[in-house]
Amino acid sequence: MIETKTAAGRHFHFDGCDVVGLARKHGTPLYVVSETAIRARIRELKADFLDKHPGAFAVYASKAFQTLEMCRLVAEEGLGLDVVSGGELYAAAKAAFPMERVFLHGNGKTRAELEMAVELGVGRIVVDNLDELETLDEIAEGKGKRVPILFRITPGVDSHTHEYVSTGKLDSKFGIPLDPSVRQAYVGRALSMKGVELKGFHFHVGSQLHENDSHLKAVRVVLDLMKEVKEAYGFSATDLNLGGGFGVRYTKADSPKGLADFTDPMMAAVTEGCRERGLEMPRVVIEPGRWLVGEAGITLYTVSSVKEIPGIKTYVAVDGGMPDNPRPALYGAKYEAVVADRPDAQPTTVVTVAGKCCETGDILIRDIALPAPARGDILAVFTTGAYCHSMASNYNRLPRPAVVMVREGTDRVSVRRETYEDLVARELP
Ligand SMILES: Cc1ncc(COP(=O)(O)O)c(C=O)c1O
Repeated sequence: MIETKTAAGRHFHFDGCDVVGLARKHGTPLYVVSETAIRARIRELKADFLDKHPGAFAVYASKAFQTLEMCRLVAEEGLGLDVVSGGELYAAAKAAFPMERVFLHGNGKTRAELEMAVELGVGRIVVDNLDELETLDEIAEGKGKRVPILFRITPGVDSHTHEYVSTGKLDSKFGIPLDPSVRQAYVGRALSMKGVELKGFHFHVGSQLHENDSHLKAVRVVLDLMKEVKEAYGFSATDLNLGGGFGVRYTKADSPKGLADFTDPMMAAVTEGCRERGLEMPRVVIEPGRWLVGEAGITLYTVSSVKEIPGIKTYVAVDGGMPDNPRPALYGAKYEAVVADRPDAQPTTVVTVAGKCCETGDILIRDIALPAPARGDILAVFTTGAYCHSMASNYNRLPRPAVVMVREGTDRVSVRRETYEDLVARELP
């Protein structure tokens, strides 16, 4: 987390910027994203994964935080981009992201999205189900193309995370369940098609994980699958995509592992597992999203009111909430915050930070100790770089916040704040 230690009486600083000053300059709610922190994570990714394992590749899961600027930064750093919809793909193309480094995911890809991906020539389409396989083959053949694909498999492992972000269980809307008949229907079928070229397999076991055991179990499952299909069809997978899911620190209760604590054992398991099974070493890909951007972002709010219900609790209402950060309402996600005007003041009271929407569940933080927030104070909520801007809505017609990128004391608007006019712009007279 990029926090500059503040001298007594100073405001909270983030990547060298006084965030109270940022709030005054750009208004609130405001997403503030540190370019320094993102680039530091990319450096770690290169040192601890890409440089250690020549031939491996990393793809940024852009659902976590996608802007044109972020696409350009990722392109410049030489990583790939995971997109999951026509909209994310459109933005990648608009940012001139090299299409051969794009992976298209998703369990409900439409025909139009598949056509767009084939037309643009994305590097890999990660096929989730049989209907998609048939549609894709038809589209690609119709255009005289052969599209490289992976199959997303459901490895049948349960990851230790919130049910809504656990994706590798057998009962999952994502991916192909592994039983022999299904294998035949997919692998056998794909190998007979003209429009697709099967390259290998993909799994993603879940998100915000602090333990590597489900990744490791899934590696064993997918290697067994690779061995079976090699024996059954003579097909050697060249690509193995191990997904993302590497956890970050939201609160003091989180103690995330370093990336290498996941990737070193995973790579060892792949190397050893391939050797044991007589498989050639595939090109391994990982897809971090949250890990790359989560801690690089904070959200600034202005306190609108403080309401004490004697003997019950004190609500601190802010000028945003579930539209700019739906995660607490969606998953019970927990956050920490600081009163940015006096970051070093001792906490004097325990409060609940409430959003401004007409939902009782629009609570950003329950029971946090803070130095008596007052109307007009700026509250900085940490670790909002992932799945906040990208999940934002306009519920209650709240305009979505601007994104300001900061870097060593400088700031610039990357995404402007929505206006009221934007909110009605799509409506016909
Ligand atoms: C296929 C796939 N890859 C990668 C990710 C990124 O996950 P995370 O942000 O936890 O790294 C996701 C998240 O939903 C995903 O579905």
